[in-house]
Formats: sequence, C-alpha cells, structure tokens
Amino acid sequence: MNYQKTILVTGGAGFIGSHVVRLLVNKYPAYRIINLDKLTYAGNLNNLSDVEHADNYAFVKGDITDAGFITSLFEEHRFDMVVHLAAESHVDRSIANPIEFVITNVVGTCVLLNAARNIWKDDYSGKRFYHISTDEVYGTLGESGLFTETTPYDPHSPYSASKASSDHFVRAYHDTYGMPVVISNCSNNYGSFQFPEKLIPLAINNIKNMKPIPVYGKGENVRDWLWVEDHARAIDVILHNGKNGDTYNIGGFNEWKNIDLIHLLCRIMDNKLQREPGTSAKLITYVTDRPGHDMRYAIDAQKLNRELGWKPSVDFEQGLEKTVEWYLANQHWLEQVTSGAYKQYYEQQYATN
Ligand code: NAD
Ligand code: DAU
Repeated sequence: MNYQKTILVTGGAGFIGSHVVRLLVNKYPAYRIINLDKLTYAGNLNNLSDVEHADNYAFVKGDITDAGFITSLFEEHRFDMVVHLAAESHVDRSIANPIEFVITNVVGTCVLLNAARNIWKDDYSGKRFYHISTDEVYGTLGESGLFTETTPYDPHSPYSASKASSDHFVRAYHDTYGMPVVISNCSNNYGSFQFPEKLIPLAINNIKNMKPIPVYGKGENVRDWLWVEDHARAIDVILHNGKNGDTYNIGGFNEWKNIDLIHLLCRIMDNKLQREPGTSAKLITYVTDRPGHDMRYAIDAQKLNRELGWKPSVDFEQGLEKTVEWYLANQHWLEQVTSGAYKQYYEQQYATN
C-alpha cells in the first residue's frame, strides 16, 4: 500500500507513547506508523497488544542515541514526520542517575534532529519534527500564577534540566537550519498503562496490597493532572495544525495538592474494594521529601484552546475512578511490570523511610 505519510513515533511502548500510537494507528489508516522504542524498564509492548497486528503499524526495537542505526532507519523509511516521546521520564531516577538522562534526553534528541535534518534539508515541505516536552522546564510556581509559553525556563531536577536542554536544541535546529519543528510542554498525565513508580499508579498498587502510601514531605506540592488520552488528542491536533517553530502548553486546568489527591484516591479504592471507609487512608505515610522538589506546577493552556480548539474532556474524579478500575481489572499487567527489577528499584528508593 502507498501510505499518505510515514510517521516515526519514538517511545511508543511507554505510557503516553502507547496512547499516541493507538490514536494515530486507529484514526489514520492511510498513515504508516513506525514505533521505535528501546524497551527500557518503562517500555512494554503489552501496552499495544490491541494494535500490534494493524496493517499500518510496525514496531522497531532500537536506541535513539545510536546515530548509525538512526541514520539508516531514516534512510530506509524517509519519515514525513517524527513525534518524539522517547525519554527517561522519572524525576526520582534522574536524582539517582543524572547521566543516563543527559544521554537519552539530550543526546538522543540531538541524534534524531540530525538524522531528520540530513534527510529533509533539501526540501522541508510537508515535514515536521514534533518534540514532546514537560511543564517541569519552567521550574516552580508560588501560590498564584500559571506557566505560559513565554515563562522563562528554570529547571531544578536533572530530569527537567535534560528536557529543557533538549527543547533548546529543537529550537536551535529551527532557528539555525530552518527545520520545521513544534514543541509542546504538558503537565502531569494519569490513566491506563502508567508505570507504577509514578504517584498515582504507585499509590493504587500499594493500596491494593495494603502497603504504605509514601507521601513526600508534607504532601503540599501541587500538580496539574491531565487524562492521558486528552494529551494524545492534543498531540494529534498540534502534529497536524500547530505552527512551525511554535510552542504549545497542554494542561488539565486541574490543580491538586498531592495529599488531597491521595485522600480522594483512598476513598475511591475503599469503595471499589468494598473496604470500610477510612481503611486505605490509614496507609498514608509521610516520607523524606524529594530533593529540589518543585512546589507547584499549573499550566495555562489557553493558547492551544484559542488557536487549535483543544480542551480537556475528562473530569478528574471520573478519570481517576476509571484509572482505578483499569488497574484493578489489569492485575496481570501490574504484576508483570512490578516483578523483577521493580522490586529492587522500590527498595532502594524508599529504603531510608
Ligand atoms: P515513559 O517513561 O512511560 O516512556 C518512555 C519510553 O521511552 C519507554 O517506552 C522507553 O522504553 C522509551 N525509551 C527510553 N529511552 C529510550 C532510548 N534511548 N531509545 C528509544 N526509546 C527509549 O514516559 P512517559 O511518561 O510516557 O513520557 C513520554 C514523554 O512525555 C517523555 O518525553 C516525557 O518527558 C514527556 N512528558 C511526560 C509527562 C507525564 O506526566 N508522564 C508529562 C509531560 C511530558
Ligand atoms: O509535570 C510533568 C511531569 O510529571 C513529567 O514531565 C514527568 O515525566 C512525570 O513523571 C511527572 O513528574 P512528577 O515528578 O510530577 O511525577 P510523580 O508521579 O513522580 O510525582 C507526582 C507528585 O507526587 C510529586 O510532587 C512527587 C510526589 N510523590 C511522588 C512519588 C513517586 C510522592 O509524594 N510520593 C511518591 O512516592
């Protein structure tokens, strides 16, 4: 079949990437979607079992930092567009091992940019390099205010510093070589297929197993939560209609203090597991704070709404309930990803508490 476009999605076996691949494969049968993923601890092909046999989908195992391999992949497929999600994505792991974040997030992004430029440089028409980034590049907010697209960068963790650096390289390729790039910076995602080292799936898993729920510091840090499928829809809209060289902030208009979110989750879990009200909340355990822990993130996503018509579609309490239902119905997935290396990570991360 002659496909209208060939799109490379990097990190498509991860949490957000798998939702993006599913959306693109199902919505655009005339596009060929190639999912490139190294399958680190965070990548899991079971996240895509429902689309793995689709005619317009193919998986390639590989590393974005391997320049020779990436060059030949671009030569073979002559991608029209790249949607770049592959990254080391967990702040706590970046504190334990910053260099891995520099290599994957900074060097890996540059390797992809370079391969795209080499293939596209004689004719950029119809081409696009879309870099998926985070609100963490903006640093932390006080009690008021929101991050806009013009908020100065002020990253504090090795993770956010590596994402900020990769954003700068993407803009540099636009400004220096005229590459058609677009960037989005999104707030915290939640939903199905999220690896249980991040707050919501970790808490669901621990509550299910009657284990302590580790809350960092006083639990007063604020995050702005977005349903992952709403993020995937935003990515689709920006991929097709975003302006070259532009940045779009994506967020849920949905701020929660960690401790309030955990209490809501405990109530939902008590209800779903038919436990006595208050049972799960007894598991809340305050533990040593994350070093350099940003206090508050909140996104102003009005530009995306005004210019491209996107807005979040899922109410947080309903989304959280659906997320809990998904994890309880997919015990096998959870058991599979929490076996082996997960146990070692968990013991090291929470050892001192
Ligand atoms: P994730 O950790 O679940 O998935 C990352 C994927 O990248 C995994 O499948 C992994 O195997 C793959 N990968 C890692 N290193 C690779 C390499 N060297 N080569 C090829 N593949 C590699 O991450 P996520 O939460 O789905 O985040 C995806 C992207 O979105 C990241 O760039 C992240 O910075 C960004 N982001 C995440 C959130 C969030 O709340 N999770 C919010 C905003 C932005
Ligand atoms: O804001 C977007 C970012 O959101 C993404 O760029 C990152 O890839 C993603 O991991 C996420 O980063 P956070 O650090 O905000 O997510 P995490 O789930 O790790 O933590 C959410 C909040 O909960 C944060 O304030 C730290 C706190 N926390 C986290 C864990 C894992 C706890 O209190 N206890 C925990 O055990």
